[in-house]
Amino acid sequence: MLQLPPLSLYIHFPWCVAKCPYCDFNSHALSGAVPEDAYLDALLADLELELPRVWGRVVHSVFLGGGTPSLFSAAAMDRLLSGVRARLSLAPDAEITMEANPGTVEHDRFEDYRAAGINRISLGVQSFADRHLKRLGRIHGGDEARRAIASVRKAGFDNVNLDLMWALPDQTLDEAVADVDQALEFAPAHLSHYHLTIEPNTLFAARPPQLPAEDEAWDMQEACAERLGQAGFRQYEVSAWARPGAMSRHNLNYWRFGDYLGIGAGAHGKITLPADDRIVRTRRKSHPRPYLSAAADRSFIAEERPVSAEDRVFEYFLNRLRLHEPFSLEEFAGLTGLDRSAAAGAVARARDLDLLNAVDQRLEVTTNGRRCLNDLQALFLP
Ligand SMILES: C[S@@+](CC[C@H](N)C(=O)[O-])C[C@H]1O[C@@H](n2cnc3c(N)ncnc32)[C@H](O)[C@@H]1O
Ligand code: SF4
Repeated sequence: MLQLPPLSLYIHFPWCVAKCPYCDFNSHALSGAVPEDAYLDALLADLELELPRVWGRVVHSVFLGGGTPSLFSAAAMDRLLSGVRARLSLAPDAEITMEANPGTVEHDRFEDYRAAGINRISLGVQSFADRHLKRLGRIHGGDEARRAIASVRKAGFDNVNLDLMWALPDQTLDEAVADVDQALEFAPAHLSHYHLTIEPNTLFAARPPQLPAEDEAWDMQEACAERLGQAGFRQYEVSAWARPGAMSRHNLNYWRFGDYLGIGAGAHGKITLPADDRIVRTRRKSHPRPYLSAAADRSFIAEERPVSAEDRVFEYFLNRLRLHEPFSLEEFAGLTGLDRSAAAGAVARARDLDLLNAVDQRLEVTTNGRRCLNDLQALFLP
């Protein structure tokens, strides 16, 4: 029998000042002003479509992601979050995160974002080194990143995440560690530390930059991990580090195979419907123009599909194995609606290969499994 997991809400903002050459997110370089009112109207109409599926459920986190949500004014976020509260039951202590690009920050705006109900800011710093930021096509330098962090702090945000990327083109180990050290000076609650990956259909894929060799990248990761550990951070996912109590509730819910409504251009959603014994995945129209036009007849949804039994096994483990947190087959069974035996064969193989380890009725990914995460996840493919 399917159990209901916690529910989150993801809202996508598909515009950026400029497209970064490494980025494959659904983001489009802005020409002219952001169509704030039209987009907000569309988002709220889009949300209404989803309400019958989540009637009576409480939303525990909201993530305003992009693209660059910080291109929208605080007044727009206030209207949006009021609209969300009027339509959904938001937990009183819900985590409400907004992503911000340091190059778009108007420094006195953050107090107003906070007044609108946003209680967590995630800043896309990437690096503090001007030469790397330039190579990454970022619209800001290191000083602007430092000023943006200071503004967020001054506005009273305690729950702040900084995004850093590492193994950048021509980056040395010392430079990668210096970025982490600089981030730590600002005492963030959370740090997302992403290995730069070359994604298909990006400018970097068309003209690949010179990246650090695999063993150099490994050394960088080890050295940065040591610094973060010494500073009191714990790695709880492949790229996520947090101080005690500051894990991202929203992202944890994805990795634990929780439910999420996904509204806005290109947003993905996942909803469990126990009464129908179904898990449904949804995807919105990607490009901002067709998405905005869809407001006329509420045809925002580009795809909606039930998740088959085989796919549930793989999707559960694809997410869950990223977490540095033990799990049980009982949890697997509750959240997928399948018998434990659906995963037992792959789990046994993973244990034979020293990729999973049993501890007190629970399973955890071994050090070996973390290093070979793709191989471990592949064992659960249909
Ligand atoms: C949607 S963006 C964050 C907010 C904002 N758009 C910005 O860039 O400042 C999410 C994060 O994903 C990371 N990211 C994007 N593309 C990546 C790639 N190819 N490899 C690794 N990390 C990537 C970056 O750290 C980025 O800040
Ligand atoms: S600003 Fe962020 S979302 Fe926009 S293109 Fe750059 S990395 Fe992607």
